[in-house]
Amino acid sequence: MTAFHCIEDLRRAAHRRVPRMFMDYLESGSWSESTLHANRAAWDTMPLRQRVAVDVSRRTLATTLLGRAASLPLAMAPLGLLGMQRADGEILAARACANAGVPFVLSTMSISPLEAVAAASPSPLWFQLYMMRDRGVVAALIERARAVGCGALVLTLDLQVLGKRHADVRNGLSAPPRLTPRTMLDLARHPLWCLRLLGTRHRGFGNLQGLLPAGTDTRSLVSWIETQFDPAVTWLHVEWVRQRWDGPLIIKGILDAEDARLAVEAGADAVVVSNHGGRQLDGAPASAHALPDVLQAIGSRAEVHVDGGIRSGQDLLRALALGARGVWAGRTLGYGLAADGERGVTRAIDILREELDRSMALTGQTDAAAISRAALVASRACDAP
Ligand code: GLV
Repeated sequence: MTAFHCIEDLRRAAHRRVPRMFMDYLESGSWSESTLHANRAAWDTMPLRQRVAVDVSRRTLATTLLGRAASLPLAMAPLGLLGMQRADGEILAARACANAGVPFVLSTMSISPLEAVAAASPSPLWFQLYMMRDRGVVAALIERARAVGCGALVLTLDLQVLGKRHADVRNGLSAPPRLTPRTMLDLARHPLWCLRLLGTRHRGFGNLQGLLPAGTDTRSLVSWIETQFDPAVTWLHVEWVRQRWDGPLIIKGILDAEDARLAVEAGADAVVVSNHGGRQLDGAPASAHALPDVLQAIGSRAEVHVDGGIRSGQDLLRALALGARGVWAGRTLGYGLAADGERGVTRAIDILREELDRSMALTGQTDAAAISRAALVASRACDAP
């Protein structure tokens, strides 16, 4: 069995085990990918403050996220098409997260339907929702999320239109893949992946079956988003969602202080500072750089979480030091799933946990929920715009 020592090991294995089309989907950013790279660069250039001779023999990583206990301040960010990284991927990832004490956020664009994922998960899912043009579809999804006991609704607002990801267009991304000579060659190189997919019923966009008008093309992600997503969404629609959902509401896709204030006014219990992993507005700031302004705008009125470019426990520590309460990792845990299914997600979480724990010790920190800017080298910490 392959030993995975770090996230990079999982990433390399994922590349070997998954057809190119779906690895491209997981990894791509939009257009020139400048924001994708800015996310990583921002964490990488934020020096941690090494401290010595502090008693760090007792350390705790546990915290609460929206009132729910979490074994570390981490959530698995919603990723579309997880069931194409590995057959039944959402089910495997949800189980791994639940067993690790980490919230799992199920994407609207999952392959397994939310009922199947919830039934397999030992703890409540968080469900990520997009506003679609057909409010009946949105209302039905909210109702289904309630019916299966989802612990939070995550409303993503930064996909008014789709940021262009060149590889997805070139690959004709669809689920299940369309059989062209190119995809057939790709699939032929990954027989185990194909066999697993043949062994499950979950191969299309599971949350939408039966909800969209007959004849709607739900196979191609790109055309599906272009036709179903609503670019006319405003805060009034957010209030509409708020009225229908009485559990915790998280607004994802906030990068601006003014939007942060509006999100709280619309009833958000938490916001996720996010540029959609560099997949939407190319040229938007790194989420690490947007975080301080959002924190200042919101104060203690809502929880502030962050995602984008989190690849290590050291990145988690940096995000906590800037003031995030929760840190969401998408691709990083997606690599785990693609590399080794449920075990791979568990391994990825364990790697992040260990890196965070040891880095806390080396920075003189003992409580993950109480990490402050003092964990960053001061001059550079203040550089973050
Ligand atoms: C969907 O949210 C995507 O980024 O593809």
